[in-house]
Amino acid sequence: MYLCLCKGITDSDIREAGQAGIVMPCQLKAKFGLKDPGCCGRCSKNIDEFAQIAMSVHQTPSSNGVRS
Ligand code: FES
Repeated sequence: MYLCLCKGITDSDIREAGQAGIVMPCQLKAKFGLKDPGCCGRCSKNIDEFAQIAMSVHQTPSSNGVRS
């Protein structure tokens, strides 16, 4: 499902970012260029939803018993 039409960002893209540890709204905005010229900014209103999706797949080091 597309979450950002300007950049073609899907929920899968957000999950991949979450798995890579990119879970904060500001990190997601920077990674996907949501502040770039030419973006409408509409999806920025939903950035908290993006962050929730990313966080849902983000694994903390202790969740799988491995410490870094
Ligand atoms: S829909 Fe995401 S910047 Fe326009």
